[in-house]
Amino acid sequence: MMAMRPRMQQKKNDVLSKWSVDDAIDQYGIERWGAGLFTANSKGNVCLAANGDSPEIDLKALIDEIQLRGLELPVLLRFTDILRQRMGILHKAFDAAIKENNFQGEYRGVFPIKVNQHRHLLEDLVTIGKDYHFGLEAGSKPELLIALAHHCDPESLIVCNGFKDCDYVETALEALKLGIKIFLVVEKPAELEMILHSAKKLNVEPMIGIRMKLASRGRGMWESSGGDRSKFGLFCSELLDAIQLLKRKRMLKCLQLLHFHVGSQITDIQRIKTTLREACSIFIEVNRLGAEIKYLDVGGGLAVDYDGSHTNYASSANYTEREYAADVIYHIAMACQDAKIPHPTVITESGRFLAAYHSVLVVEALGTGSPANNLDVPKLSKKSPELLQRIAETYTTLSPKNFQEAYHDAIEARREALMLFNLRHMSLEDRAKIETYFWLICQKVYQMSSKLDYCPDDLDGLEATLSTFYYCNFSVFQSVPDHWAIKQLFPITPLHRLDEKPRIEAILADITCDSDGVIDRFVDLKDVNDTLKLHPLKQGEPYYIGIFLVGAYQEILGDLHNLFGDTTVVHVSSTPQGYMIDKTLTGETVMDVLDYVQFGRTDFLAQVRNRVEEALRQGNISLDESASFLRKIEMGLDDYTYLDSTHFRSQTHVCR
Ligand SMILES: Cc1ncc(COP(=O)(O)O)c(C=O)c1O
Repeated sequence: MMAMRPRMQQKKNDVLSKWSVDDAIDQYGIERWGAGLFTANSKGNVCLAANGDSPEIDLKALIDEIQLRGLELPVLLRFTDILRQRMGILHKAFDAAIKENNFQGEYRGVFPIKVNQHRHLLEDLVTIGKDYHFGLEAGSKPELLIALAHHCDPESLIVCNGFKDCDYVETALEALKLGIKIFLVVEKPAELEMILHSAKKLNVEPMIGIRMKLASRGRGMWESSGGDRSKFGLFCSELLDAIQLLKRKRMLKCLQLLHFHVGSQITDIQRIKTTLREACSIFIEVNRLGAEIKYLDVGGGLAVDYDGSHTNYASSANYTEREYAADVIYHIAMACQDAKIPHPTVITESGRFLAAYHSVLVVEALGTGSPANNLDVPKLSKKSPELLQRIAETYTTLSPKNFQEAYHDAIEARREALMLFNLRHMSLEDRAKIETYFWLICQKVYQMSSKLDYCPDDLDGLEATLSTFYYCNFSVFQSVPDHWAIKQLFPITPLHRLDEKPRIEAILADITCDSDGVIDRFVDLKDVNDTLKLHPLKQGEPYYIGIFLVGAYQEILGDLHNLFGDTTVVHVSSTPQGYMIDKTLTGETVMDVLDYVQFGRTDFLAQVRNRVEEALRQGNISLDESASFLRKIEMGLDDYTYLDSTHFRSQTHVCR
């Protein structure tokens, strides 16, 4: 018997009930993944939710206004207020945990710069973080320089992770002389020798941290950052050697911090508890051996619930920030109580948790395409091949009683047609007719099967096969590289028309010339969806789609595939009247990206001019044509790297 699986949506209920904006909020899971930050208004537009004195911000209206300022899509919106809220939420969670556990130590957060290195974001974070003595974490020499340039609060910390050379170490040591609390975290044994040598040379007392290589591992896509095979940290024996070395040099008091990080996006709270138990035991032992560790750095890993399912699925988290903070503080408090040692200052390096929510990428759909669009039933003649006659009959006799059998017959007919075509026994016209029948049958079968409460297993995937490509003006590789690289999910919704029922099963295709440049996995409460429900495009009207929670890692991991450059970025903050555009950073131009690949403007134009002169000499173009061509090339160098969408709006580009 054929395996059956339950359908996720209540198809029957759909038919009976009238569509409302609330249905759309549920369909796209906005309240599940939105963390109270996003919602939709009665106009059917997605909004940044009202907060305190600030009213909601209608994202459709905002995008319309941004375009009136002459900026083109795609645009990355950055909301400073979201950063502020996330910072507040994190600190509130730790404050509550500290109170509950009567914890005597303090909490200090540091932001890992690698999560998003952009200057304006870091400036915002440092300003917002002043009330909390919030610091920065650097993982490389350039990041250290950024941290030093932004540091302004003597109470906040800088934590230096990552592999180090002498320059890195000496820069950090010299910063100590400026009164900056800066830790050099030893990632591998040789670094300790280097730090001690440089400290002696510069005559400073280093603030040393050691990263522990824990046996415990995180859970999720970054699980391999922990465990024996992790790139970083010291094994127990290496840790003991380091303590011995520091003792010999009478510098054990410089060892003030223990650090661990078992991976980003740890989806399961049980893994966090296990990791904490091991880390606390090492912390206690190191204290027993004579080091007075004042800081315990628990790294990053606090996860973001991208799909809103509150589970330990890779794009989710089965815990809240309150539970996380409570567990961190509780485990450390208990360990200190047992060992009768003072409570340390607890450091977290949460990056994703702070930054993910504050950015939304807005892209525009330029057109659609589907294999089953605009199909007419093919005309047959008496001379039509038998295979074509057969599939035509399958189509005309298709009914709710035989649709599954008809589907199997259609697959078989298409396969046979290909074989006959390859043997040159079938014409291109007849092959095309068979393929058309195939798609018509798939469409009918899908319509019939979607009325069932249960879907036969072999029809699984039909929805995705028939889905419509929405060609959107962006690059997956530049703006959501983690979707391409590790299949991470990001919540995606149209920004408007949520008062209309979306009926089209869609996949988003970007404008790169790469078949991997698609978004074909979408968040769902119980599963991962292969398609996203969207509305049909309307002639003369834009259709905006928001890709949410892209503020962590995406911008900097993005690459220049096909030379699509950085998108325009608009910083927005809330006001009692609505919103204010604080800063606009126009996206990269064609010339900017050509520069990356060593094409200087002057040489480039000279080269094109030579080509044009050659064509003139040969009489292939007129003087007018040559002037117009050169003007176009020159102006094109200053264009945005993405497509000009105004041309596409005048037509509803529907293709197959
Ligand atoms: C050492 C270190 N700290 C902090 C982080 C940030 O982690 P997250 O963004 O999950 O908070 C990372 C990222 O993997 C890291 O490698």
